[in-house]
Amino acid sequence: MIGVRFGVMAVLLLTVPVASADPVAAPVADPAAAVDEKRGRLLYLQCRACHALQPGGAELIGPHLGGLLGREVASVPDFSYSEALQAQSFRWDRARLDRWLESSGRMVPGNSMAVAGIKNASDRAALIAYLEAATVLPAIPAAPAAAPTDNRPAP
Ligand code: HEC
Repeated sequence: MIGVRFGVMAVLLLTVPVASADPVAAPVADPAAAVDEKRGRLLYLQCRACHALQPGGAELIGPHLGGLLGREVASVPDFSYSEALQAQSFRWDRARLDRWLESSGRMVPGNSMAVAGIKNASDRAALIAYLEAATVLPAIPAAPAAAPTDNRPAP
């Protein structure tokens, strides 16, 4: 554990100056979270063949993951889920994603996501942190750009 922590510190020491020289990189409150996010993004590559992060993309083998945290299980319209997953009733949260990613087959026997689980708990945590950020739906659903004026209700 101490070794891992030290490793993370070393990575931070090496990467932070580079990151802050990058004009695109937004300031990050918690550098450890940034490292995790990077790792999560890499881990997501193994999901990408089957899942989009947001609705509206190409049809893939799996449902899009837009708005995943807090989303009702098996609820993407027009995606044909397995009966096993449709029979479930819960909303996705971190704990459930963790179980799903560790072994979807153990969590929901008979589901149709044919993927080996991610054994490493900290890999799962990093992936979940990444998903949590990357699947947030845009707050404003593509409103016309020319309407910044006051349309709040009168006080
Ligand atoms: C080979 C294709 C494939 C890969 C790779 C894959 N998935 Fe899936 N995933 C599916 C399918 C198909 C389903 C629908 C399962 C069902 O209906 O039983 C699914 C379902 C899910 C669900 C439930 C969605 C819902 O609407 O309830 C989540 C969450 C999920 N996958 C996350 C992931 C993550 C994260 C990864 C990467 C580690 C991943 N999947 C990799 C095919 C895949």
